[in-house]
Amino acid sequence: MMTFHITKFLLSFFILISITCLSFSLSSESSYEDVFELFQMWKKEHGREYGNKEEMENRFEIFKSNLRYINEMNAKRNSPLQHRLGLNKFGDMSPEEFSKTYLSEIQMRSNWDDRKLKDDDDDCDNLPASIDWRKKGAVTEVRDQGNCQSHWAFSVIGAIEGLNKIVSGNLINLSAQELVDCDPASNGCAGGYYFNAFGWVIENGGIDTEANYPYIAKNGTCKENANKVVSIDNLLVLDGSEEALLCRTSKQPVSVSLDATGLQFYTGGVYGGENCTKNSRYTTLVALIVGYGSVDGEDYWIVKNSWGKDWGEKGYLFIKRNVSEEWPYGVCGINAAVGYPIKTVLASAM
Ligand SMILES: *[C@@H]1O[C@H](CO)[C@@H](O)[C@H](O)[C@H]1NC(C)=O
Ligand SMILES: *[C@@H]1O[C@H](CO)[C@@H](O)[C@H](O)[C@H]1NC(C)=O
Ligand SMILES: *[C@@H]1O[C@H](CO)[C@@H](O)[C@H](O)[C@H]1NC(C)=O
Ligand SMILES: *[C@@H]1O[C@H](CO)[C@@H](O)[C@H](O)[C@H]1NC(C)=O
Repeated sequence: MMTFHITKFLLSFFILISITCLSFSLSSESSYEDVFELFQMWKKEHGREYGNKEEMENRFEIFKSNLRYINEMNAKRNSPLQHRLGLNKFGDMSPEEFSKTYLSEIQMRSNWDDRKLKDDDDDCDNLPASIDWRKKGAVTEVRDQGNCQSHWAFSVIGAIEGLNKIVSGNLINLSAQELVDCDPASNGCAGGYYFNAFGWVIENGGIDTEANYPYIAKNGTCKENANKVVSIDNLLVLDGSEEALLCRTSKQPVSVSLDATGLQFYTGGVYGGENCTKNSRYTTLVALIVGYGSVDGEDYWIVKNSWGKDWGEKGYLFIKRNVSEEWPYGVCGINAAVGYPIKTVLASAM
């Protein structure tokens, strides 16, 4: 047993080294055998098996092309802080396939859009230089949406989980599946709109726990007998001001959307919006800002995603903030449509 574990450990270590080394040596003519060997190790690491030889060959072609792309993009890095790409679990998916499976344009279209915050009751002076709600115990573990575009539901429960912890002191895993199944304004695993989903929780009088209403990564039937364990009183919306977003993030985790086109192979570092259109509100992924900070003069948001812990930095993305006017809606549109829940107890306490 022990030997097995050590072997397994050494193997993963070897894979890591190989992937790193091969990544750097590929451009200088790695042999077909080297790359094929790397592909075999990658398959093993990710438990990937293909139906037939043709499928395998097809995937190998995509893998090679992705490897080339990852090397090219990494070669353009000019600071150690800058984001890195790597052969993660999406290594055998073409960018087109990835985009079809994980991304779709976030349509802003609901009566909840108009719930703008009157920021007269917000105290935004003397904000802390950094905040990380994970360290305050207000963030649950990173989930994996699987083959279901439920990121909008995970963002919404994440914001409610955070608020609930701040207000009541309890961190409770809430049910994204309930939103997937029950919010009639959204399209379940075909994507949904986060403002509507907050609205559904308000009108429903609460949402159930993940333990009672577990995630199944596919469309399900709305359970009539679900519990209303955590409720919210209202949804407020910010529309583009980074100052307001910073201020609100200092008070609670907030739901945002961003264009994630360039993030398939993101493995860490501060993402500067390469592959996003500047001056655009176009977004493709809903996520949760759980904090902000700075490193060596580079200001960033800490963003919780729902693509599993084996994507990004243990499931998280660091993306630049406090950028130039070229990004009027923030990097990749992250300031464009910000929503957060409130409980009146919180509003009156603050
Ligand atoms: C939430 O669920 C995770 C498993 O996904 C579990 O490890 C964790 O303990 C749960 N957290 C709470 C606060 O119940
Ligand atoms: C899930 O349900 C939505 C409608 O609510 C539909 O558009 C979508 O195609 C369904 N997805 C799957 C995988 O069945
Ligand atoms: C990202 O932008 C680079 C050019 O900087 C381009 O070569 C690449 O194809 C783009 N990647 C995606 C996934 O669109
Ligand atoms: C934004 O960056 C400038 C320097 O470029 C810095 O002085 C300022 O404090 C930053 N603002 C925030 C809110 O981090």
